[in-house]
Amino acid sequence: MKITIVAGARPNFMKIAPIIHSIQHEQRNGVNISYRLVHTGQHYDKTMSDTFFEELLIPLPDANLEVGSGTQAVQTAMIMIRFEEELLKNPTDVVLVVGDINSTMACSIVAKKLGIQLVHVEAGIRSFDLNMPEEINRMVTDAIADHFFTTSEFANNNLIKAGIGKERIHFVGNTMIDTLLSNSNKFRKPDFFRTKNLIEKKYIVLTLHRPSNVDDLENLERLLLKISANSGNLPIVFPAHPRTVVNLRKLNTLPINIQLIEPLGYLEFMYLVKNSFAVITDSGGIQEETTVMKVPCLTLRKNSERPETITVGTNELIHSVDDIPRWMSILFAGKWKSGNIPELWDGNTSTRIVKRLRELYTG
Ligand code: UD1
Repeated sequence: MKITIVAGARPNFMKIAPIIHSIQHEQRNGVNISYRLVHTGQHYDKTMSDTFFEELLIPLPDANLEVGSGTQAVQTAMIMIRFEEELLKNPTDVVLVVGDINSTMACSIVAKKLGIQLVHVEAGIRSFDLNMPEEINRMVTDAIADHFFTTSEFANNNLIKAGIGKERIHFVGNTMIDTLLSNSNKFRKPDFFRTKNLIEKKYIVLTLHRPSNVDDLENLERLLLKISANSGNLPIVFPAHPRTVVNLRKLNTLPINIQLIEPLGYLEFMYLVKNSFAVITDSGGIQEETTVMKVPCLTLRKNSERPETITVGTNELIHSVDDIPRWMSILFAGKWKSGNIPELWDGNTSTRIVKRLRELYTG
């Protein structure tokens, strides 16, 4: 069986790493399975890409399509053109895509139109918010995939409601959590802990990159001021995504306790999150990681495609800037929920995926 695995942007890398390691494990046991890793180049900065390959021991990609940045349409189109060339040159039995970024959708369409079996890992999740490009990516990918590997019952139900037969839905858990658990003894304290006088559990981590939070300058400023004013003077460490930095540069000043830093690698970022008092974010994956590490998570969004992080885990949605004081006061009163771990988020998801792929495609 030949599998082409696609990865394009930062949140994909922690999802593919354990799948590749499980395939390599099977190969060492003499199983006839091979993979080809294709990086679309959607993310290309060292801090957004290479560092993750090095730290997560992901083999270098067999091909890099080097598509870079662009509008939604330009980026999607570039990925499609170059991925089609890639598949015509290197035929494969199965294309495996993960997550919900533009690369996921673009490569799915190309694979399916070439008549190749398409497998989606992290299928079925939905925010029901079509203003998010990711929601469109999820819907399109799930409309054409052949097999669906899911992280939750919520995802299973969404797929069933869309008319997908149960035999094509495989509830396996969360590969991002495989990566988290297998690397937890390697998390590394960043040097800036010393220079910034940070103390474990006495700082807040902030990440923001969604267009709805960062693209409008006034909105971004209001958000930062409100967070700062309600943070009990704790330092707020803010590793900023490149698209956020572009707008932050246009602001005159940042609130005094917000400490802007470069994007971190995986091992340092996870150390930072694990040892924080709380995390404020608009990321998808961080909602899951904080749930597993039992760190309070305040998600600055109106919806989540990962509702189990709220019903089971430590996450809460902050619908508007005006709700920040109320939630922060619950946090500082020590009344945040402690949370539990969602079903099958146990570190063995990739083993289950590769086992199932063998059953499906090698008989
Ligand atoms: C993408 C994903 C999003 C994911 C996020 C994680 C889509 C639609 N969005 O959003 O789901 O949560 O990645 O980071 O696929 N840039 C750089 N260097 C890089 C990458 C990006 O400077 O290595 C800058 C460019 O100016 C670019 C902008 O960041 O225009 C946005 O990058 P893009 O890949 O379009 O979307 P993200 O916001 O990163």
